[in-house]
Amino acid sequence: MFFGQKIHPLNFDVPERLIIGSETVELTGPGVQLRVRCADIAEGCLRLRFDNAAVADLFQHSDAVLPEGREGQPVAAQREAETALFAARAGRVELGAARLRLELAGFTLETVAGGIGACGPALLLNFAIAAVDGCYGFGERTRRLNKLGDSADCLTVDVVAVFRHTYARDDYDPTYVAIPWAILSGNGRFLGLFFDNPGRAIMDAGKIRPDEFIYQSFDGVTDLYVLAGPSLAEVVRRYAALTGRGPLPPLWALGYHQCRWGYQYEAEFRELAAQFAAADVPVSALWYDIDYMDEYRLFTWDRVDFPDPAALNRDLQAAGIHAVTIVDPGVKREPGYAVYDSGREPAVFCQTASGREYVGKVWPGDTVFPDFTRQSARDWWADWLADFLRENAVDGVWLDMNDPATGYSRTEEMRFAHGAIPHDRYHNQYAHFMARASRQACEQLDPDGRPFLLTRSACAGTQRYSAVWTGDNASNWQHLRMALPCSLNLSLSGVAFNGPDVGGFMDDTSAELLVRWHQACCLFPFFRNHSSRHSRPQEPWQFGPGPLAAIRGAIRTRYRLLPYLYQCFFTHWRDGDPMIRPLLYHYAGPEYADLDDQYLLGDALLVAPILHGDGQGPERVRHGIKHAQRSVVLPPGVWFDLNRGGWVEGGRTIQYAAALDELPLFARDGALLPYYAGPLRNRLMDLRAIELHLFCRDQSVNYDYVVDDQTTRRYLSGAYGIAQITAAIDSERLRVTITETGDSPRDRVTFTPVLYGRPDVRELELTINGRTVIRPLQADQREWLCQAWPVRI
Ligand code: GLC
Repeated sequence: MFFGQKIHPLNFDVPERLIIGSETVELTGPGVQLRVRCADIAEGCLRLRFDNAAVADLFQHSDAVLPEGREGQPVAAQREAETALFAARAGRVELGAARLRLELAGFTLETVAGGIGACGPALLLNFAIAAVDGCYGFGERTRRLNKLGDSADCLTVDVVAVFRHTYARDDYDPTYVAIPWAILSGNGRFLGLFFDNPGRAIMDAGKIRPDEFIYQSFDGVTDLYVLAGPSLAEVVRRYAALTGRGPLPPLWALGYHQCRWGYQYEAEFRELAAQFAAADVPVSALWYDIDYMDEYRLFTWDRVDFPDPAALNRDLQAAGIHAVTIVDPGVKREPGYAVYDSGREPAVFCQTASGREYVGKVWPGDTVFPDFTRQSARDWWADWLADFLRENAVDGVWLDMNDPATGYSRTEEMRFAHGAIPHDRYHNQYAHFMARASRQACEQLDPDGRPFLLTRSACAGTQRYSAVWTGDNASNWQHLRMALPCSLNLSLSGVAFNGPDVGGFMDDTSAELLVRWHQACCLFPFFRNHSSRHSRPQEPWQFGPGPLAAIRGAIRTRYRLLPYLYQCFFTHWRDGDPMIRPLLYHYAGPEYADLDDQYLLGDALLVAPILHGDGQGPERVRHGIKHAQRSVVLPPGVWFDLNRGGWVEGGRTIQYAAALDELPLFARDGALLPYYAGPLRNRLMDLRAIELHLFCRDQSVNYDYVVDDQTTRRYLSGAYGIAQITAAIDSERLRVTITETGDSPRDRVTFTPVLYGRPDVRELELTINGRTVIRPLQADQREWLCQAWPVRI
């Protein structure tokens, strides 16, 4: 079957009769026999399980949902005329022979007539969406934020291998990530549908048939989790609670990362560290792509190019730079190679149906693949990986080619559990289980530490184990523009820790594109410059002093805001809110439904990057300098323009012109941005001195600042404190109150208030844990004196 092909809805058999048992409802007719059960899962979340009698294997193979969400409380079916009624805690479900009606938190969704069907083992659910005005989520996708009128093929693929000719455009659909998750909006309310079936599936939101949302699985059990709103945030939080919220990464992982396929020698890494220092650009990690290996053999180093990797990595660490290595799943099939040999006897590799080792073709040539679905294979992998990380002083793990990429070798023959389980049950989950095994390795190595892992492929729930980058993009403006909706939808799909290859992976970037790419993504959760060996180098200094200064500004903006970013990560772990959000996460109105060229970091900072190049869009000349211009939708209220230093009236769309070194950034009235003002030295920064940048024109501030050790896993058992901060202006006085609670943050952080945009305020009344001091506001605490932000960039 080709990508994009679906089963025509008319090829499905539609049930005609309904047999209502106590907990099970059977839908039957010629060619179709479905069993449906309903369960209460959690507050605002119910599940409908669809078992199709034509499915040979009725085991739910998905690892998406956390164990506590898998069981649930069965909901009894009641008969009401020709309908079965499930009165679940989260909402009401009506089931007819071929009709399903859902009602949760004021959102009603109903199938079209005959909207339930089976075609052999395939399942069809076809909902009427004439009243729906937006559709979001869908995992990692190309194209626009709003998926209404679009469709998604949920199948993980090595995109460039499959779409060789179209990768540089945006008209391919399957990506490295498969998450069958859709959030529908209508009348200002939202509803989430998570189709938990790990096999290939299609979601079509009105593309082939306007006003119909079609879900098709091709085989297996489908658990439909229905998640109530009414707000988008509530739907997203419920999904994150169901499939797991991303754990906190180590602080260094939030910094700037430098990578390139092509770094090949020890001397290059030492030089890179020196170049970053010389360019005065902080960097958190240098990445080793496949060339560090000995002929692409996993867990080896080329000892000619890297005579002593551990010593090299320790030297980098002494300069505050971490080391991350790529790890592909493909093990070179080579008798005598220790990794391969050690996996043969316990049979950790995937097999064909007849029990042969499945062989694919990847970087090292003939390759075999660990069967990560089995605990024994995960243990084997974790032992190898942990030893490798320890012996070579490697801090982070980069999981690639796990879609899985098998070269010209067809993946279908790759089966699991010694060949017993067909490929499609775990295809989309291959990377997920690889990430799980790799996290196990990191935890084995350092039981108290926070691992950092990055994976290319993922499915629902992978965020529990790893961050995701969006794969091989290209150095062009279209891919830069696409990075925003792609990362935003991924963020709404549970995978909040994500980001693209900054600068573009394939093809040659340009000075302007590289600058704009850094600005657009400098406040993304994951921020890594990466490029292919076939493209021109794109480290920050590659285009001379002008572009370097602009890129440095973007990177430093991130480091200045690391405390804020970290708070956003904490909020995600605690509540499920993603770090970056489309505006419709916080603001209701049709103007936000399709808005995907600007975003919010947390709820306070609006980022509206320039996404077009010279001559491609509106421009303005100011003070003799060319500025690119864009429109910025400012939600109601007033906003502080952090470039120009003044308040701007919101509730309207403004035109904003930005020079090459400017990133349009706005803080909302009532915002607090925790800011790091000390020296920037890779990871060697002291984040204990925090400035509280306050934006109080008409609004007061209420903010919980979380303090923990930023390195261990102790936060999981509540080892963190909260500084409750309020700030308000009372005539000429700024009143700031800080009350510390929880696992005593006292003495760990010092806070200095800095006020914006209120020149009339002269005095500070600061109350910390009940003790008050009153003093004049220092000049450098009154940012309104400054022309540009951040002043100490
Ligand atoms: C794949 C990865 C890319 C990496 C390359 C070489 O294309 O997506 O990031 O640089 O392989 O390992």
